Amino acid sequence: MKQFGGTQRNAYLPILYLAVIVLPVFLLGSYLYNENLRISQFREFKTHNLQEHISPPQQTKEDEDKKINLVPLEACDVFTGKWVLDNVTHPLYKEDECEFLTEWVACTRNGRPDSKYQKWRWQPRDCSLPKFDAKLLLEKLKGKKLMFIGDSIHYNQWQSMVCMVQSNIPSGKKTLNHTAQMSIFNIEEYNTTIAFYWAPFLVESNADPPDKRDGKTEPIIMPRSISKHGESWKDADFLVFNTYIWWTRNSKIKVLKQGSFSQGSKEYNEIGIYVMYEQVLRTWANWLEQNIDSNRTSIFFSSMSPAHVRSSDWSVDGGSSKCEKETEPILDMSKPIDVGTNRRFYEIAVNVTKSTSRVKINFLDVTTMSEYRKDGHTSFYGSRSGKLITPEQKLDPRTFADCYHWCLPGLPDTWNELLSLYIIHTT
Ligand SMILES: *[C@@H]1O[C@H](CO)[C@@H](O)[C@H](O)[C@H]1NC(C)=O
Ligand SMILES: *[C@@H]1O[C@H](CO)[C@@H](O)[C@H](O)[C@H]1NC(C)=O
Ligand SMILES: *[C@@H]1O[C@H](CO)[C@@H](O)[C@H](O)[C@H]1NC(C)=O
Ligand SMILES: *[C@@H]1O[C@H](CO)[C@@H](O)[C@H](O)[C@H]1NC(C)=O
Ligand SMILES: *[C@@H]1O[C@H](CO)[C@@H](O)[C@H](O)[C@H]1NC(C)=O
Repeated sequence: MKQFGGTQRNAYLPILYLAVIVLPVFLLGSYLYNENLRISQFREFKTHNLQEHISPPQQTKEDEDKKINLVPLEACDVFTGKWVLDNVTHPLYKEDECEFLTEWVACTRNGRPDSKYQKWRWQPRDCSLPKFDAKLLLEKLKGKKLMFIGDSIHYNQWQSMVCMVQSNIPSGKKTLNHTAQMSIFNIEEYNTTIAFYWAPFLVESNADPPDKRDGKTEPIIMPRSISKHGESWKDADFLVFNTYIWWTRNSKIKVLKQGSFSQGSKEYNEIGIYVMYEQVLRTWANWLEQNIDSNRTSIFFSSMSPAHVRSSDWSVDGGSSKCEKETEPILDMSKPIDVGTNRRFYEIAVNVTKSTSRVKINFLDVTTMSEYRKDGHTSFYGSRSGKLITPEQKLDPRTFADCYHWCLPGLPDTWNELLSLYIIHTT
C-alpha cells in the first residue's frame, strides 16, 4: 500500500469507519444528550509533577527569543491559562502542506470560510510554552514509538501530530500504513513510529474491528478484557490514552455477560456508566502496572475533549444553534463555563490515574482549555465518506454540524504542543 494519496481504497478504510460509523453515532449522541449527565460543579485539578524547565511569562519578543529565566516546569500548571491570538507562531503548519491530513478534518479545503480558529496560541498563566520545535521532538523520539490509543478524537490528535512533524522529513522517508486496528506513521530517518490504535473504550468492545462497522447497535463492552489490545501497546515508549465520548450516550452501558464476541456471545447486562467507567479504568491501570516498564515507557491520559452542542451554553442571549456559527473562542474567562462536559468522568479519571504505584500516569488536563474553543470544531466542514455537507443539510445543523471533532490545523495541535513539552522535558 502506498502513502496516503496512493492506493486509496485501503488507505481510506479507517477514515471510512470513522466517517460512516463514528460520526453518525456522535450525531445521534447529541440527540440523546442527557441533561442528567451534566454536572455544573466546576473543579480544577492541579497537574501532576513535571520535573523540568520551561520559561516564565514573557513580556517582550526578545524574552521569547532568548528563552531566559527558566522556571521549574513543576512550578507551572501549563493547563491553566488563556488563548491569545498569535498569527505569527500559529498555525504550526499549513493545511495543504500536510499530505497526511485527510479531508475528514481539513476544514479550509472543505470550504470553511474563516481561518482565525487556526491562529490561537495557548498562554499558561504562570509561564510560557517554548516555541514548538519539531526537530527537537523528533530527536527525542529517535528509535522510539509513540502511540495514541482511544477514539476518533485521538485519531484527530494523532493526525495533528503527524502533520506537526512531517514537514521535517523528506518525502520517501516517511510512510503511512493502515490496518483494521491501527494507523502507523513511520519515519525512516529517525526510526520513529507515531501510531494510532483504535480502542474507544480501551477495553474490548464490539466497537473494535471487525464489528465496529456495525454502527446500528449500541456498543457492548467487556470491562475486564484488555490484554488482547495491550499486546500491541507493550513495545511503545510513549503511550497516550483517552476514552470518554462513547460513554456519554446513555446513563447505562451494555456489558457482555460472558464469553466473547468472537464466540458469538451477545447477552449483556446494562450497568451504570460511572461504575463501569471506573471499573474499565481500573482494569486499564492494573494492566499498565503489570505490563509496562516505567523506566522505558511514559504513560499519558488525555482528559476529555469537550463538545459544543448548544450555543445557549455560552451565548448571553441564549442562542439555539450548535457550534456552526462560531468563529471565536469564548474569551470571557471571568465566569466559569459549562458546555455540558461531564465532569464526573473527569473526576474518576483523575482518581484512577493518581492511584497507581508502579507506573506514573501523566494526566493531560486539556478539558478546560478546550471548552473555550467553541470555534474549533469541524461543524459543516468535515467530510464523511468523501462527501461534504450539502447546502440542504446545512439547513439542519442539529443533525449535520459536527461539534465533537476539530479542524486541523487547530486545537489538537495545542494538545500536542503540551504533550511534546512533557516528552521533551520529562523523559
Ligand atoms: C507501508 O507502506 C510503504 C509504502 O507506502 C511500504 O513500502 C511498506 O512496506 C509498508 N509497510 C508495511 C509494514 O506494510
Ligand atoms: C497577522 O495579523 C495582522 C493584524 O491583523 C496582519 O497585519 C498581519 O499581516 C498578519 N500576519 C500574518 C503572517 O498573517
Ligand atoms: C529502531 O527502533 C527499534 C525500537 O523501536 C529498535 O528495536 C531497532 O533496533 C531500531 N533500528 C535501528 C536501525 O536503529
Ligand atoms: C528502574 O530503574 C531503577 C533505577 O535505575 C531501578 O532501581 C529499578 O529496578 C528499575 N525498574 C524496573 C522495573 O526495571
Ligand atoms: C475521587 O476520590 C476522592 C478521594 O478519595 C473521593 O472523595 C471522590 O468521591 C472520588 N471521585 C469520584 C468521582 O470517584
